[in-house]
Amino acid sequence: MNVLLERSLVELSRKNLPICILDDEPYHAEVTSERLQAAGFPVTGTTNAEEALQKVRCGSCRVVVADMKMPGMDGLAFLEKTLQCDPGMYVILVTGFYAVDSAIEAIKHGAYDYLCKPIEYTRLLKTLDDLTDSFTRGLQIRDLEDKLLDSLLFHGIVGRSPAMLEVFDLAKKIARHYTNALITGPTGSGKELVAHALHQMSPVSQERFAVCNCSALVDTLLESQLFGHVRGSFTGATETRPGLFEYANGGTVFLDEIGETSLQMQAKLLRVIQNREIQRVGSPEVRKVDVRLIAATNRDLRAEVLAGRFREDLFYRLSSIELRVPGLAERPGDIPILVQHFVKKYGETYGKPFQGLTRRAHIVLLQHDWPGNVRELENVIASAAITANSDFIDVGDLPEHLQRSRRHTASAATVWSPLPLDEVRSVHIQRVLEMCHGNRVRTAQVLGIGRTSLYRFLKRSDKPVALAARRSA
Ligand SMILES: Nc1ncnc2c1ncn2[C@@H]1O[C@H](COP(=O)(O)OP(=O)(O)O)[C@@H](O)[C@H]1O
Ligand SMILES: [Mg+2]
Repeated sequence: MNVLLERSLVELSRKNLPICILDDEPYHAEVTSERLQAAGFPVTGTTNAEEALQKVRCGSCRVVVADMKMPGMDGLAFLEKTLQCDPGMYVILVTGFYAVDSAIEAIKHGAYDYLCKPIEYTRLLKTLDDLTDSFTRGLQIRDLEDKLLDSLLFHGIVGRSPAMLEVFDLAKKIARHYTNALITGPTGSGKELVAHALHQMSPVSQERFAVCNCSALVDTLLESQLFGHVRGSFTGATETRPGLFEYANGGTVFLDEIGETSLQMQAKLLRVIQNREIQRVGSPEVRKVDVRLIAATNRDLRAEVLAGRFREDLFYRLSSIELRVPGLAERPGDIPILVQHFVKKYGETYGKPFQGLTRRAHIVLLQHDWPGNVRELENVIASAAITANSDFIDVGDLPEHLQRSRRHTASAATVWSPLPLDEVRSVHIQRVLEMCHGNRVRTAQVLGIGRTSLYRFLKRSDKPVALAARRSA
């Protein structure tokens, strides 16, 4: 590459790395600032550690070059506080009393480099240029990750686990042909998004997509909402109104939480499905509608049929095409890209261009079992995005109960005793089983073994409770 071009590229990247110089000696702070400014870095100097911390807090610098010996707060204490505020910050410590031991200590505590005084500027510039390089590389990687994320989006749904790819495949296959479809899955798993995707891929995507949450309304209101009513048909019906089926005629009606409807309502819905006919409340007139119907539920409708709470005929009509959206615990591989997706989304919402999560925060999210599924994960990131004040969302920004489970896991992991391998295996299986609330299928998945192997191990470990007690003793 042309040398001039190379130099101007280096200077351009240096402009992206704001530096703060912290030294209790005003002269040192000033000289270093001037040298780095001349090299093309945006620099501010200060003699006050609190002021430097303030700059870290408000994100006005990426790197701090800090003196080791200062009155009040020394370099190591400053390093610790800085990394607490922003784990993505780079701190270079400078000392007049260089010793290999203290250099290693500083690096162990998270310092990026440890230099001696008087500062050798070629060495400092080399360190800063290495940083500029990895900073630029980080930006490029994030850019690529964003592109990858875009390519993994399926009609606004993020997913790359085999389980979700299967859902996408099936949705693509049926989208052109279905007239009724049932989407099942635990609450917050993304059923409504899948319903919307089905509509978008269907031949009626240009028509309306009307949503009705069946659990939110009492029967009479639900009926008038879906089928419409004529004026005077009940108190408050001051005018004639069409319902959702007429409103979405030609398009799609999405009935969320269909498992919550009464048997009477189910009979009326069956009529729509069988004959595509509706009647407005209070009117004898039968109207034809041409709608695609997608229903969703988090209940096990087969069990509801057996319990006499759901009409069998309606269930069979609906479930001829069934899409099951798995809960997040069944597809932990999706957590990192969902996190990335929501961090980007809420970073944009709150005007905070986050670079991501710290490693320890990531681990906490990966270890949680997400009973509220993607909705819960989205809420966690949304509120963390409000509180986080650095470039990275950290453990402290996560809800208290997630932080607690982290402390619990950390302390349990440090209790060690010399158990025979067989016992360690039993204890471990027992722990995972507890984590999965006794769900053996999930436990086997987490352990990476078959279900039959799990049953065999469980049979073999004769006194799991005693073992667990011994562990916590
Ligand atoms: N795979 C996903 N990708 C992106 N956002 C998702 C995904 N799954 C769920 N969400 C988001 O999580 C929330 C809950 O999803 P929703 O479709 O309403 O779940 P459900 O209908 O199963 O209760 C919504 O805000 C939705 O946008
Ligand atoms: Mg829903």
